[in-house]
Amino acid sequence: MYRREPNARVRLFQGLRPHICPLEDVMEQVPVGSRVLDVGCGAGLFLLLLARQGRVDKGYGFDVAAPAIQAAQRAARDSGLADCLDFQVRSIEDGIPSGPWNVVSVVDVIHHVPSPHQRSFVASLCDRVPVGGRLIIKDMVSRPYWRALANQMHDLVLARQWVHHVGPDQVDAWVASHGLRRIYNSRIDRWWYGHWTMVYERPSL
Ligand SMILES: C[S@@+](CC[C@H](N)C(=O)[O-])C[C@H]1O[C@@H](n2cnc3c(N)ncnc32)[C@H](O)[C@@H]1O
Repeated sequence: MYRREPNARVRLFQGLRPHICPLEDVMEQVPVGSRVLDVGCGAGLFLLLLARQGRVDKGYGFDVAAPAIQAAQRAARDSGLADCLDFQVRSIEDGIPSGPWNVVSVVDVIHHVPSPHQRSFVASLCDRVPVGGRLIIKDMVSRPYWRALANQMHDLVLARQWVHHVGPDQVDAWVASHGLRRIYNSRIDRWWYGHWTMVYERPSL
């Protein structure tokens, strides 16, 4: 998908990402034919893979990093997926857009949000999940410490950012207080990286 991407760093990291991140586990949680909002989509890998599998009817991804969004737009065009995928530069601080989504996904983004804002960020994601819709949250472990530290070093070197891991139990409590029901969770290690995923559904009243 990124074969024609001119930036070698983007080509390298998007090629490596499925090896260090269990995206296939997360993708299985997206029902076929979904309308997906991917928050902090980076170079768009998650939506591109979903669209290639035919799981996405319409996908909208946004990210604060303009170069990543440009790479996502190029990859969508080069893969013939530009009709069903839309990528825009936008910050979480601008609010989470409302739309006709039945899936809201956030993959490895919460740890980039400063700790004092994580709870309200999760609340704003919950607000965008309609009845019968899904919220998919995937992030990096906060325990054991050595795995969290390994990811801390990864982000310090690659994103030049000191990140803020939050455990799945904490996120689970925040989401539960917004009326969503957990329907799936997983905990997977790849190399020295530890990953957790939780999927929620908004039940009918
Ligand atoms: C580890 S990357 C994950 C990218 C993508 N979700 C994926 O799985 O490939 C974290 C992403 O969050 C984005 N991000 C961090 N803070 C953000 C903010 N305030 N608004 C929008 N995106 C943000 C970064 O630009 C980065 O692309």
